[in-house]
Amino acid sequence: MPASRMTITDISFEDIRKELVFDKKLQEEIDDINLTYRSAIKEVTTKLEILSDNFEMQNEYMPIHHIESRLKTIDSLVKKAERYGIPDPLKNLPRVRAEVYDIAGVRVICNYRRDIYAISRLLLKQSDVNLIRVKDYCENPKNTGYRSLHVVISIPVFLVKERIHVPVELQFRSIAMDTWATLEHELRYKNNGELTEDIKDNLKRCADMLANIDKQMEEIRKQVL
Ligand code: GTP
Ligand code: MG
Repeated sequence: MPASRMTITDISFEDIRKELVFDKKLQEEIDDINLTYRSAIKEVTTKLEILSDNFEMQNEYMPIHHIESRLKTIDSLVKKAERYGIPDPLKNLPRVRAEVYDIAGVRVICNYRRDIYAISRLLLKQSDVNLIRVKDYCENPKNTGYRSLHVVISIPVFLVKERIHVPVELQFRSIAMDTWATLEHELRYKNNGELTEDIKDNLKRCADMLANIDKQMEEIRKQVL
């Protein structure tokens, strides 16, 4: 029983000592997650910016429109770990870190669909980037209509005492794919995750239309650039 939920007569000094030691260790583990995953986001973002700059020098064209990133909050990490069936996540943080790949998330919004593949390939070619998993929802869209290229990598982060490999989930999208995903997410969120079949069908149709527009814009780009 946590000390906070005991009555004064139930608490032994040994219990209080255990809780305090656990809290201190837990805080250190949370601080460590924040530092290492935030650092991994910085490393990946810098790599992508360098690639985009160099790509522009060579091709007079910027493939990345913009980059977004986020660090998962401990609250949402615990909820996800519970969904993954990890018991008592806060007491099993090493397992949570090994099984949850999107503690660090980087979203790369590219101008065109082909840029998604150009930039992700260039990143994956780098010798310190390890590929963990690819899910190509551009080639194989989800039933919702969602399109995006998901790539999980691990990259080294150099700390004072050690070098650790940190996983980062990247979502590569075209502007059109991102527009759809952002609006669909907001609509679903505002309706507590529930949408009627009619609305889902409509959203799927919009996703297909946007995919078609992506193709046409790419054709126009080929004629101009
Ligand atoms: P979980 O992260 O546990 O869901 O497992 P996963 O990483 O295997 O799932 P998935 O490959 O589906 O990626 C999940 C992430 O992709 C979500 O956090 C969203 O950012 C995005 N995503 C997946 N499907 C949809 C969708 O239908 N609509 C929107 N807007 N985003 C989606
Ligand atoms: Mg995920």
